[in-house]
Amino acid sequence: MNGMDGAGESAVQKITTPQDRLTSVLAEDMAAVNRLIRQRMASEHAPRIPEVTAHLVEAGGKRLRPLLTLAAARLLGYAGDDHVKLAATVEFIHTATLLHDDVVDESQRRRGRPTANLLWDNKSSVLVGDYLFARSFQLMVETGSLRVLDILANASATIAEGEVLQLTAAQDLATDEAVYLQVIRGKTAALFAAATEAGGVIAGGGEGEIKALRDYGDALGIAFQIVDDMLDYGGSDAVIGKNTGDDFRERKLTLPLIKAVAKASPEERAFWVRVIEKGQQGEGDLAQAMVILQRHDAISACRRDALAWVARAKSALDNLPVHSLREILSELADFVVSRVS
Ligand code: IPE
Ligand code: IPE
Ligand code: MG
Ligand code: MG
Repeated sequence: MNGMDGAGESAVQKITTPQDRLTSVLAEDMAAVNRLIRQRMASEHAPRIPEVTAHLVEAGGKRLRPLLTLAAARLLGYAGDDHVKLAATVEFIHTATLLHDDVVDESQRRRGRPTANLLWDNKSSVLVGDYLFARSFQLMVETGSLRVLDILANASATIAEGEVLQLTAAQDLATDEAVYLQVIRGKTAALFAAATEAGGVIAGGGEGEIKALRDYGDALGIAFQIVDDMLDYGGSDAVIGKNTGDDFRERKLTLPLIKAVAKASPEERAFWVRVIEKGQQGEGDLAQAMVILQRHDAISACRRDALAWVARAKSALDNLPVHSLREILSELADFVVSRVS
C-alpha cells in the first residue's frame, strides 16, 4: 500500500494512538503493574475470586488509569518503584467499581465479554468487587505514604457517592447539567484525578505540579465520561465491548438526554416522560430517542462540551515541566474525544 511508503518514525506515530504511545514508552513499568495485578487478584481461600477476576482482567481493558499514574510519576522524574503499586491500586479500584457498576446497571457486556453478574451472579460480583477494593487498600498501604492513602481513600468514597447520586438522578427529567456534572465528576473523574495526583505525590512533586496533575485528571475524566455517554447512543457494541443503549434502558439522565429534554417539544416531552420517568419502553423507543437526539443536535453539543474539558485538561499541563510524556498526555486529551472504544 502507498500509505506505508517511507514509513519512518513519523508515519508510525501517525498510525498509533497517544494511548499506544504511552503504553510503549511505559512498557516496562506497565509490565510490572500487570504482574502485580495478577499476583494480587488471586485468593487461595475462595476459588470464585480468581475465576471472576481472571475473567475481567484477562479481557484486558484499556488500562488508562494506571498509565496515568505511571506517566505522572515519571514526568516528574520519579526513579523509585512505588508508582507501580499505586498504578495497580488504581486499576484494582477501577475493576472493583466495574463489577459493582454492572450489577447496578444490570449490564450484560463488558470488555467484549459477558459481565460477571451474567456469567456468575450479582452476589459474586458484589463480593469480589469488595475483595478487590480491600486488595487495593493493602497495596496502597505498602507505599507508606499517608498522603497517597488520603487521596485514594477520598476518591473511593467520591466514586461511591457519584454512583449513588446517579441512582436518585435517574428517571428524573428535572436532572440538569449541573447534577450530571456532579455525578460524572464523582463516579469517573475522581479516579482519574486521584490517579494523576497520586503519581505526582509519590514522585515528590511540588504543590503546583501536583495540583496541575490533579486538574488534568479531573478534566480528562469528565471529558472521558461525556464521550462514554455519547457512545452509549451511537457507538458500536463490538468496538466498545459493551452494549449500547444501556443508559436509555436504565433511564439514566446522561448529557445527550439532558440536552434533548431541555429542547423538547410538548410531544417529545410526553415521549421522555413515558420512556424515562414511567419506564414504559417498547421496541423502537431507543431508535426514536436517537432520532430526537439527532433533531436537537444533542450529540454534537456533547462533543463541544467534551472538547471544552479537553482544553482545560491541556491547559493544566502548562504548569508541568516540559517533557515528552507531557506531550503525550496532551495528545491523549484530544484522543479521548475522538475515541471509539
Ligand atoms: C469504563 O471505563 C467506566 C467508565 C468510567 C466509563 P473504561 O472505558 O476505562 O474501561 P476499561 O478499563 O477500558 O474496560
Ligand atoms: C462508569 O459509569 C462509572 C463507574 C464504573 C464507576 P457507566 O455506568 O457509564 O460505565 P459503563 O458505561 O458501564 O462502563
Ligand atoms: Mg454502567
Ligand atoms: Mg456508560
